[in-house]
Amino acid sequence: MTATTTPSDAVASTEAGPFVLEGRHLVKEFSAGARSGILRRRPTLRAVDDVSLGLRRGEVTALVGQSGSGKSTLGRMLARLMPLTSGTILLGGQEVPAASGRGLREYTGAVQLTLQDPFASLNPLRRVEYILSRAVRIHQGPADGGEVRHRCAALLERVGLTPTDRYLDRYPHELSGGERQRVSFARALAASPAVLLADEPVSMLDVTIRKAMLDLIDDLRREEDLAVLYITHDLGSARRYSSEVLVMHEGRVVERGPSEQVITDPQDAYTRRLLAAAPDPERKSTRAG
Ligand SMILES: Nc1ncnc2c1ncn2[C@@H]1O[C@H](COP(=O)(O)OP(=O)(O)O)[C@@H](O)[C@H]1O
Ligand SMILES: [Mg+2]
Repeated sequence: MTATTTPSDAVASTEAGPFVLEGRHLVKEFSAGARSGILRRRPTLRAVDDVSLGLRRGEVTALVGQSGSGKSTLGRMLARLMPLTSGTILLGGQEVPAASGRGLREYTGAVQLTLQDPFASLNPLRRVEYILSRAVRIHQGPADGGEVRHRCAALLERVGLTPTDRYLDRYPHELSGGERQRVSFARALAASPAVLLADEPVSMLDVTIRKAMLDLIDDLRREEDLAVLYITHDLGSARRYSSEVLVMHEGRVVERGPSEQVITDPQDAYTRRLLAAAPDPERKSTRAG
């Protein structure tokens, strides 16, 4: 059924296996005055405009576009942290109802979102052990304190933060940007997700540690058989770490296809501009991680 109802603009889910997570004709509109609290009628902004996409287990799909193109909004829609204006989300081929409740808990376990700035999502008043233990208790069921600490340590080990005792007792501000990003991956893994939506996981990190972070995501993809949506504005890393690229511009997917093909032979004018403007990753230096 999925194969025949797949929208024509999505990649067909045939030989390569079924999609674990699929979005069809996703639309998100914001009223332009919403942020400033102005109630007066304002024109709406289509932040996501009829986007269809499918993610497969064991594969990284890159969502590439410049700032403001709608990438994070799409990520939040797929994580069901934001209601859809219209469109459909399917998990494991099943349509996900809009209503919350028990179904939503299952959904958020299966589909985990990590953010560009993990500082914003890690409680600054809590140690890493507490932050992870909450996720462990929610997603892995009841266990005594010793067992929970043990599970938290296993998660830290999974993301390369060792010796784990040293990290369990730290506060987020005592970690580097890269370490914080790893803690947010560890927290996501507590749910044993099928899908990881990684929103700009390296754009705030120092260039010297970006590769290690992307290698970690690639390891997780392989070892946990995760479907990964790698959200980035960097086409270079998309080429190296993803099998498929979707280029997003002003809310729409303007080009999609195998990464190598999109990057070496872009068909869309916007993709070409994005490539021409791409900074040399070796020379680029940003905020320290
Ligand atoms: N909660 C919101 N309310 C109003 N506008 C929003 C909201 N979130 C995002 N936007 C707008 O939607 C557009 C897409 O934003 P975003 O998804 O964050 O893009 P990206 O992640 O590609 O930088 C931007 O114009 C942004 O200002
Ligand atoms: Mg964003």
